[in-house]
Amino acid sequence: MEAQNVAQENGSRSAPAGRATDIVLQRSITIDDVTIHLRAPDDVVDSVWIGQAEVHRLFTAAWLKMHERDRIMTPVTVGSTGCGKTTLACAVARDFGRPVYLVNCTSDMRPEDLLITPVIASQQQILYRASGLVSAMVNGGICILDEANRMSEKSWASLAPLLDDRRYIESIIAGVKIHAHPEFRIAATMNEDASTFNIPEYIESRLKPIIPVEFPGADDLRLIISYHVPYASERLVEQIVRYLMEQKEAGKIGSFSTRDAIQLTRYLYKSPDPAKVPLDTVVPLILKVHEKSLTKKVISLLDL
Ligand SMILES: Nc1ncnc2c1ncn2[C@@H]1O[C@H](COP(=O)(O)OP(=O)(O)OP(=O)(O)O)[C@@H](O)[C@H]1O
Ligand SMILES: [Mg+2]
Repeated sequence: MEAQNVAQENGSRSAPAGRATDIVLQRSITIDDVTIHLRAPDDVVDSVWIGQAEVHRLFTAAWLKMHERDRIMTPVTVGSTGCGKTTLACAVARDFGRPVYLVNCTSDMRPEDLLITPVIASQQQILYRASGLVSAMVNGGICILDEANRMSEKSWASLAPLLDDRRYIESIIAGVKIHAHPEFRIAATMNEDASTFNIPEYIESRLKPIIPVEFPGADDLRLIISYHVPYASERLVEQIVRYLMEQKEAGKIGSFSTRDAIQLTRYLYKSPDPAKVPLDTVVPLILKVHEKSLTKKVISLLDL
């Protein structure tokens, strides 16, 4: 069975970054009498990418369509925890002005979770619910497979035809084949930690380009923190950035992520006089506050 949802490729170049397009979202699609209910897109209006312009440009280029026979690529952002992999993908997706669907990948995700799942509705009827991925395929949206390295080979296998020139998926559960809208785009984010499966080679060859996301330098970090914690004073931001950078250089803290820096700023701001907080003493404690004996010390140092 084949979906009737394939719009003719019109050969036009994709919407340039930054320009939103008016898109009427479909709520369901019926293929050979099987109705599949689509998911609503996610809100990524707050996703802004600051600094590291090169990775932003590389990512955007991968999603551009330059010619009617051009194929949109499937970029992957890789890097350590909290360095900005998801933010980069969401920020570029937002610039394309198309509906964005985030799919949080897990190790126990089955192929049907990734595509179409049956649910029991009223009167014992079976309803078919599309995942964010399939909803994006139908609506010409953008799907971000977040933490995709956690998916098992079985789930990756169900994506093989989608990630090459065939651009379709087959749902065994609903018994349908769905072709992707010509404007459909997909990307993945992958962590460099140990909690991952090995990605099969035939899938790896379909995921290009691989875009490494690094931790930002001090100047970018200042801007990022100020964007996320706009009420923190410049002085506090400066203190935190300098402290973290120095500690890292001196090898006193193994590493810190952009997320850590933002959260530290938010936390220190809770003190009545953040500028007077002895960072040297309090920051290592905050990073380890799960140790019960330290909680009182943190409370007194921050004067909470
Ligand atoms: N370049 C950047 N511009 C703006 N915000 C950023 C940037 N890099 C990171 N951030 C912010 O840092 C936090 C962590 O980023 P994000 O969630 O994208 O990291 P991640 O690499 O996907 O982390 P994880 O591995 O845990 O999924 C978010 O609040 C994000 O908005
Ligand atoms: Mg992420």
